[in-house]
Amino acid sequence: MARPGHTAWLLVGAAMLLLASAATAQDCLSARFSNGRTFGRCNSMPTLGASLHWTYHPENGTADIAFRAQSGADGWVGWGINPNSRGMVGSSVFVATQSSGSPSVLMTNLDSTSPSLQPATLKFNVPVAPTVEYSGGAYTIFATIALPGNATQQNTVWQAGSLSGGQIAPHPTAPANLASATRLDFLSGSSTGASNSRLRRKNIHGILNAVAWGILIPTGAIIARYLRVFESADPAWFYLHIACQCSGYILGVAGWGLGLKLGSESVGVTYHPHRNIGIAIFSLATLQVFALLLRPDKKNKYRLYWNIYHHSVGYSVIILGAINIFKGLDILKPASGYKTAYIAVLATLGGIALCLEAITWPIAIRKRKRDANKATNGNAGWQQGA
Ligand SMILES: *[C@@H]1O[C@H](CO)[C@@H](O)[C@H](O)[C@H]1NC(C)=O
Ligand SMILES: *[C@@H]1O[C@H](CO)[C@@H](O)[C@H](O)[C@H]1NC(C)=O
Repeated sequence: MARPGHTAWLLVGAAMLLLASAATAQDCLSARFSNGRTFGRCNSMPTLGASLHWTYHPENGTADIAFRAQSGADGWVGWGINPNSRGMVGSSVFVATQSSGSPSVLMTNLDSTSPSLQPATLKFNVPVAPTVEYSGGAYTIFATIALPGNATQQNTVWQAGSLSGGQIAPHPTAPANLASATRLDFLSGSSTGASNSRLRRKNIHGILNAVAWGILIPTGAIIARYLRVFESADPAWFYLHIACQCSGYILGVAGWGLGLKLGSESVGVTYHPHRNIGIAIFSLATLQVFALLLRPDKKNKYRLYWNIYHHSVGYSVIILGAINIFKGLDILKPASGYKTAYIAVLATLGGIALCLEAITWPIAIRKRKRDANKATNGNAGWQQGA
C-alpha cells in the first residue's frame, strides 16, 4: 500500500507531466480541414493562436498552404512572406476579413507601417486564387504560392486585429503582435527567430510563475490540508508542505523578479493589474515565510489565531496566483495549448482536493471524536496536530 505522501507526489508528478505535454504538444497536428484537405507539415506559431500547414512541392517550387488563426467574426487575420527582409514592411500578404459580410481574402503588399491595403499583385506568384473560411472562431486561408527565389527558407509574418467602422484597423502593439514573425524552412519545417530574447524571457517568466504559484503552492496547501489527517503521514506531510511551499516561493520569486525586470524594460507599456497583483502575491507570500518564524507553539493559546492568519493569507496567495496567471496568459497570448493546459491543471488540482475532501471527512470526524474521548478521560495533554 503506497503511503499517502507517495500518492501525493505521484499526483503532483502527473499534473506536471500534463502541463509539460500539453505545452509542447503541436496542436497544429490535430487540425482538420474542409473537403478532406491534408497538409504534409505544420507549425504552431508561438503567438496569436495561429498555425501554418503546408505541403511543399520541390519539383516546381510551390507550396500549398493553410493559415489558421483565432479571431472574432469582427476581426481580421493575415499571413504572408517578406521576400527581402524581416518583419512587416515589404511583405506580401493574404488578409482575411468579413468586412464585406462574408469571409473574403485580400492580397496586398505592405509598403509601410500604415499601408493602404489596396488589392495588389504580390511579389511572388500565386498560381491558384486563395480562398478563406471562417468557423469555430478561426479563419483559415488556403493559398498556393511559388516560394520567392525558389528558396525553401522564407521570412514569414502573421497578424490579427479588429475592424473599425467596417474597415481593417491597425493591429494592436501587444508583445504577441510585435513578435509575430519567423524565418520558416518549408522543406524541414523548422523555424527560427520567432522567440526573440524578450519573448523567450517572457515565456520563462510565465512558466516559472505558473509552476510556482499555479502548481507547487496549491499542491503544498492540498498536502497540508488533507495528508495530515492520516496519522501515518505525520510528520511527513509537514516536510512535504514546507518543501512544496519553499520551492514554490523560490521559483515564484525568481519569476516575479524577471517580471519586474521585463516591466521596467517596456517603456510606455505597463500592465497595471498584472503588475499590482504580482506585487501583492509576492508581499503576502513573503509575509507567510516570515510568519513561520513567529509560529507559536502548538499549545499556545495564540496558535489558533496564527492558524487562521496562515490559512487566510495562504488561500489568498493561491487565488490571486490563479487570477494573475490568467491575466499573464491574456498578455502573452501564447499558443492556445498553454491556457488549456493551465485550466487542466486547475481542474486536476480541484478534482484531487474534492476527492481528498470526501475521503478525509470521515477520518477527521473519527479522529476528533477519539480526541474528545481522550480529553474527557483525563488525557488533556494531547492536542491535535498543527
Ligand atoms: C526550384 O528548384 C528545384 C530544385 O531545387 C527545381 O527542380 C525546380 O525546377 C525549381 N523551380 C523553379 C520554378 O525554378
Ligand atoms: C506543382 O507540383 C505539384 C506536384 O507535382 C502539382 O500538384 C502542382 O499542381 C504543381 N503546381 C503548379 C503551379 O504547377
